[in-house]
Amino acid sequence: MKFFLDTANIDEIREAAETGLIDGVTTNPSLVAKEKRPFEDIVKEICQIVKGPTSAEVIATDYKAMMPEAEKLAKISEHVVIKVPLTRDGLRACKTLREQKIPVNVTLCFSANQALLAAKAGATYISPFIGRLDDIGQEGMALISEIADLYASQGFSTQILAASIRHTEHIRQAALLGAQVATMPYKVFEQLYHHPLTDSGLQRFLADWKKTQA
Ligand code: G3P
Repeated sequence: MKFFLDTANIDEIREAAETGLIDGVTTNPSLVAKEKRPFEDIVKEICQIVKGPTSAEVIATDYKAMMPEAEKLAKISEHVVIKVPLTRDGLRACKTLREQKIPVNVTLCFSANQALLAAKAGATYISPFIGRLDDIGQEGMALISEIADLYASQGFSTQILAASIRHTEHIRQAALLGAQVATMPYKVFEQLYHHPLTDSGLQRFLADWKKTQA
């Protein structure tokens, strides 16, 4: 499973990239707005740090306006992946961008039928939002499972990018279900390392070692 960081914060991206375990980054308009810096500067810097797929979302909602926006973003770096919403215009843009060999992440996916449409439009990644489904009392993970089965049975190569991840359990379950990518907040990435028995075990090893040095 590839690990993407779901943030536009450069400090977090630098910290996480140092581990060598981060394969890419996803941003969205809400995450970029928090940073109070020009969008294109942020995208450029992220691509330089991560040197891997970096999703940058178009703001326009109609096809004609989406296309020049997407093409401008794609010129920032070879690592840019254009993020489009799962709408009629977004999928039309997806199809055109893929014909131009520009990678596309289709975002805001909440149903298997939407994922089917995105795959037919040639999406590189489909982003089902697990946490937001859980938030409204539905089972986000059931959607990942259904999309995985659907893509396998139909032979689609669109990668499932589990998004809107709230905790480490989402990562484990999405990985078991075969999602190729998980995008996670920095906090969740850090939590993946931790287990109380690792902490107490290390303390005991170090304490025992200290005794031999006396
Ligand atoms: O970036 C897309 C997605 O991961 C957003 O997550 O936490 O705002 O539902 P969230």
